[in-house]
Amino acid sequence: MKEHVNQPDNQGLITGLDKTTDEVAWDLYRKAVRFGTWDPAEIDLTQDKKDFENLDEDLKGYLIHFCTGFLDAEENVALKFCPWIMLGSSTEQQAFLSTQLLEEFKHTEFFMRYFKEVFQIDRILGVKNIVQQKLDERVEHMLDALHLDAEGREAALVEGLAHYQGIIEGVQAMSGYDVYEAVYGSKGLLPGLAEGFARIKEDEGRHVGFGLRMLKLYARNPEHAARIRAVYEEYLPYIMIRYDQPVIVDGKEYPTPSEVRGRERVQKLFDRRLKDIFGERVKV
Ligand SMILES: [Fe+2]
Ligand SMILES: [Fe+2]
Repeated sequence: MKEHVNQPDNQGLITGLDKTTDEVAWDLYRKAVRFGTWDPAEIDLTQDKKDFENLDEDLKGYLIHFCTGFLDAEENVALKFCPWIMLGSSTEQQAFLSTQLLEEFKHTEFFMRYFKEVFQIDRILGVKNIVQQKLDERVEHMLDALHLDAEGREAALVEGLAHYQGIIEGVQAMSGYDVYEAVYGSKGLLPGLAEGFARIKEDEGRHVGFGLRMLKLYARNPEHAARIRAVYEEYLPYIMIRYDQPVIVDGKEYPTPSEVRGRERVQKLFDRRLKDIFGERVKV
């Protein structure tokens, strides 16, 4: 039988500050080595194929749009993740972050399979995801920081962690899991997608747990705290766009199901993450 780590839910990802950052990083690295062994190629998608065929047209269209968001995002972060590893300030941190790189490619593989085997279409273009597009600038900035002193590298890493682990994974992706559950999972539909999300969430629990732990520690320094707040402030409107845009697949517009409530879910997780990092006292 396969063993999985019990991961906390979206509400309680952060560990205390009693261990050093390197101890936390090493523990998470060991967890990834021991438990992060699921294979995206092994998830059974036969029922998903049947469920998808039987879905009404509107829910089909929304599902393709929704999974496009995930496929694009997982692939984009996988392709751009190396500077986060390179800016890790110890062997332990870089070891953990290297597990995250492989896991983002596994998530990408899962959604590539989903398009091929369940939707049986090529991926679609044109789903707007501005926090993702902003990673191009972030990567440039982080690579430039490799030439700076320890302080400069740390500042770039803080902003990188706030952008990626703090916003993209900690708010945007986690809102997406809840949307899947509300629209499809709660109706018992698409069990392969449910299984994929369950495994991805275990991985993401480690990624976000590490990122938030780092941000919480860095937020004790007022300059870093200001950096983190600025990133959160800048990106909130961009995550909202993910849910405000029209749902268009193959030139046809589809309605957003009423259960999605994207803005509400994003805002709730956004507030939650700020609390994780700054405690009760700070509001953006
Ligand atoms: Fe991922
Ligand atoms: Fe991740």
